[in-house]
Amino acid sequence: MTLMQRREFLRNGSAAALGAAALSGGARAAAAPRSRLRLAMIGTGMRGQVLLRELVRRDDVEVAALCDIEALMLQRALAMVEKAGKPRPATFGVDAAGRGDPMAYLKLLEHPGLDGVIIATPWELHAPMAIAAMQAKVPVGCEVVAGVTLQDHWDVLRAQQSTGTPYMLLENVCYRRDVMAVLQMVRAGLFGELVHLQGGYQHDLRAVKFNSGDPAKPYGSGVEFGAKGWSEARWRTEHSVQRNGELYPSHGIGPCAMYVNIHRGNRFTHINSFASKARGLHDYVVNKMKAKDHPSAKAKFKLGDIVTTTLACENGETIVLQHDTSLPRPYSLGFRVQGTDGLWMDLNRSIHIEGISPPHQWEDFKRYQDRFDHPLWKKYAAAAEGAGHGGMDYFVIHAFVEALKANAPMPIDIYDAVAWSAITPLSEQSIAEGFKTLAFPDFTEGQWKTRKPIFAFDDRY
Ligand SMILES: NC(=O)c1ccc[n+]([C@@H]2O[C@H](COP(=O)([O-])OP(=O)(O)OC[C@H]3O[C@@H](n4cnc5c(N)ncnc54)[C@H](O)[C@@H]3O)[C@@H](O)[C@H]2O)c1
Repeated sequence: MTLMQRREFLRNGSAAALGAAALSGGARAAAAPRSRLRLAMIGTGMRGQVLLRELVRRDDVEVAALCDIEALMLQRALAMVEKAGKPRPATFGVDAAGRGDPMAYLKLLEHPGLDGVIIATPWELHAPMAIAAMQAKVPVGCEVVAGVTLQDHWDVLRAQQSTGTPYMLLENVCYRRDVMAVLQMVRAGLFGELVHLQGGYQHDLRAVKFNSGDPAKPYGSGVEFGAKGWSEARWRTEHSVQRNGELYPSHGIGPCAMYVNIHRGNRFTHINSFASKARGLHDYVVNKMKAKDHPSAKAKFKLGDIVTTTLACENGETIVLQHDTSLPRPYSLGFRVQGTDGLWMDLNRSIHIEGISPPHQWEDFKRYQDRFDHPLWKKYAAAAEGAGHGGMDYFVIHAFVEALKANAPMPIDIYDAVAWSAITPLSEQSIAEGFKTLAFPDFTEGQWKTRKPIFAFDDRY
């Protein structure tokens, strides 16, 4: 099955089965603040396991149910919970003969007393799974992205609005330590009035290969994707074959959107994207892996190696995103925050503030990091020690859990989720229509004018 067929299969199946989950009454209605949550996870692959590690470390979370269609991934996740000395969760998705059931997540959503579910499956499954969860009244923490097509994003939004079920996009980079210090600096006015921002996903994914730890399954040669691939390579590389656009916008746009208060006094108004030629993945298979006779050498990759997207904002800022995953390069998200009084760039960890920095010279960011460290980081740095991605994975889970416990609004909410993620289909459309500039849909339907910023204003979440 192609990814779209798999998705349609899930969507149609889920529509039929949804009523059952929604009517089951399995989920706990949101009421007074709670001190403990019973959480579930759909998709216990490599990312799910990183997030699970954060869940099992917490005393205020019980991992009540897990679902994956691959026995190895489910077993690994189960072993993590057991090793942490926590009660064994209910498991879904793999039958006694080891066969996966792609619809089993609907049964998980009927599991009694769930306070929330984390979705960490391949991209094309996020929208149908999140919609099913919201209709079953199970609050959602969804891995990036929110959907694939533009219609997905409207569907996810409408499901959230009609059910009132909380939804948070688990965009961890918003919680990166330097990103949060810069947020404090933006709010303190150090950069003056913001004018231009940049970010992106600049991560060499040519060798998406992971060691399964299972000698019987020789995954991970670096040229295998699709059915023979392992973890992300099994589904993600297929997107590079079929699609051309800014495929992974939220790590770059999330922090930028928070800096300029998107949906809270500001909004995206226009978008366009340019794509370079596609050479890197083919070159990698044929010349670097020397696998010119391998079936992957015949794949025609559609995704341009560098996709550059420009967004215009209502308040006059421009934001540039770069998607750069198929050429050799060290990892960097390439942030730049620039205003009338100075700029920060993360690549060289440098900053220039007019009147403070020596004229025309960069300064090391360190002393600013120390001075503007976010209260959340000051409070929880020790707890975040060892968590994924330099600690930020601790904070994104912490935010989801604490906001749910308090019945508070999600700090990265449904409007953030759908607008950040809808950059992908809009950028695909722009490229397909000759790099055309498109109007950006206003998912808030005018509410952006009056909504107030809420993200990371104190040391709670
Ligand atoms: N925020 C981050 O820093 C970050 C990092 C890595 C991945 N991710 C995101 O996490 C998600 C998962 O990525 P990954 O690297 O873990 O991929 P993965 O392939 O390792 O894990 C996905 C899991 O979903 C399971 N799955 C597929 N269909 C299913 C179904 N119908 N029901 C239940 N389970 C199903 C697969 O068997 C697999 O174990 C993606 O959206 C990815 O973009 C985010």
